[in-house]
Amino acid sequence: MKLQRRRFDALIIGAGGAGLRAALQLTRAETKAAVVSKVFPTRSHTVAAQGGVNAALANVVEDSWLWHMFDTVKGSDYLGDQDAIEYMCRAAPQAVYELDHFGVPFSRLEDGAIYQRAFGGQSRRFGAEQAVRTCAAADRTGHAILHSLYQQNIRAKTHFFDEYFVVDLIRDAEGAILGALAFSIETGEPILIESKATLLATGGVGQVYRTNTNALINTGDGLAMALRAGVPLQDMEFVQFHPTGIAGRGMLITEGARGEGGYLVNSEGERFMERYAPHVKDLASRDVVSRAIYTEVKEGRGCGPNKDYVLLKLDHLGAEVIKSRLPGIRELSMTFMHVDPIEQPIPVYPTAHYMMGGIPTNRHGQVVAPLRETPEEPVPGLYAAGECACVSVHGANRLGGNSLLDILVFGRAAANHMIGFLGEHPHHRPMDEAAVDAAMARLARWDDKGDGERPEALRTELKKIMEDHVGVFRERERLAEGVDKVREIAQRMRHSTLRDHSRIFNTARVEAMETENMIDCALATSLSALKREESRGAHSRVDYPQRDDERWMKHSLYFLATDSMDYKPVRTRPLTVEPFPPKERVY
Ligand code: FUM
Repeated sequence: MKLQRRRFDALIIGAGGAGLRAALQLTRAETKAAVVSKVFPTRSHTVAAQGGVNAALANVVEDSWLWHMFDTVKGSDYLGDQDAIEYMCRAAPQAVYELDHFGVPFSRLEDGAIYQRAFGGQSRRFGAEQAVRTCAAADRTGHAILHSLYQQNIRAKTHFFDEYFVVDLIRDAEGAILGALAFSIETGEPILIESKATLLATGGVGQVYRTNTNALINTGDGLAMALRAGVPLQDMEFVQFHPTGIAGRGMLITEGARGEGGYLVNSEGERFMERYAPHVKDLASRDVVSRAIYTEVKEGRGCGPNKDYVLLKLDHLGAEVIKSRLPGIRELSMTFMHVDPIEQPIPVYPTAHYMMGGIPTNRHGQVVAPLRETPEEPVPGLYAAGECACVSVHGANRLGGNSLLDILVFGRAAANHMIGFLGEHPHHRPMDEAAVDAAMARLARWDDKGDGERPEALRTELKKIMEDHVGVFRERERLAEGVDKVREIAQRMRHSTLRDHSRIFNTARVEAMETENMIDCALATSLSALKREESRGAHSRVDYPQRDDERWMKHSLYFLATDSMDYKPVRTRPLTVEPFPPKERVY
């Protein structure tokens, strides 16, 4: 099939909040920008974000970006980079007011100001009192944001390649990124999109776990593309398990439900969070609440016939609050559990939700990696933002409401840097045809039909391995077994083929390449988790129960080519304020 070629100044891979915020900035600056997305943009996973976006607007109670910064550093278990955290928390109010002006229909307070609710791990006066900082559009905040950003992009005339799957980045011999090879899922036609600057904004890889809150599209495509381009993945051991997934199914029940006053009980009707986080109880940070639920169930105080979940009680909030502030989770509970939270508690259990790790970037969104013998430098022409990136503002554990903030602040920051980069690099570099051929070969590989194992079977096996071996609590032997099993899946995937039908559907090709991507991400997560011999944030080792700042206050880096690890220091110096030194983390 003939290879079509198109040229743009900037290519954005992924049409979630980070990609669309970046695209809007670029197009408004009269940059010729294209967004390529494997789904129609408003189906990107940002649409599923429920509870809200953090910004110290002080609409409900007094607040300050510095308190927000303190909470984020503490929430990260001191692994977050404090320069990036300061930048994000300071930029938060502007990011939210911009959304307001883009037309996001935020819920409102009596006085017309943007509605804010309490979320976990958020405080005022450096831990003294609960903050009310999360700006919400009922419990459909991501939906409201994504649709508004898409509409603004249409108005600005951003170019969209909808339902195109990106096969690989194109990288030249000097390590510069020249664009990407994609193919149309409808027609199967490949297209080479040449760009002077490329932004990865492809989201996370929650699908690597059997029970998760993520859209089916979250298969780590950008993460794996970066790995194949020689960029390591950072801090992939830190996987967030959201405490309140619908039991047995995994869909998200927003933390906003606890922010509005809901609470968790065990089979004895006990508000057990009082034991685990006596000060803030159900609004402790997510890693703490998830471990508490897991422990209650393990110790026999779970609910239901199999004692395998706890209950989230909301009925005391009253029908009015539930209908106006939590309509989405009411609908989810009724659809999937036949439970109306106005009357009955919702069965919940931790579910894989978010990757704190990802493609290493600085706070300008530039991808930074060890290249050509140097410890670390920006990869020419490559940027990343959103869940696929690791700036790192979330460190070992992300606070609820900080992911929507991250995508907005760093989507915009990356675009601003790209605009400067394009000013300095006005011409396309010569195309590297050998790299194009290699990407075409990756696509052609899935023309193979035969009797090999099916990619979908390997995907199912992989998800179970990750759930069984790299879950909420971890331990050396199980992790080591998990690493071996993932490596074995990677070997078997090399001989996998699509079904021997007369024709192969393009969706099957996409699923096969997604599965390859998931496997590479699973290798990164499982090996990083095995090697980190401490407990920090979401990474809980029963054989190393303490945080160990002396040995492990450092970022992990996983390299695909050598299937090996390296480490780099945490940036503990903020931009303008005093650093927050590590302390014991209690809630
Ligand atoms: O619970 C939630 O609404 C999720 C929010 C988040 O992950 O930031």
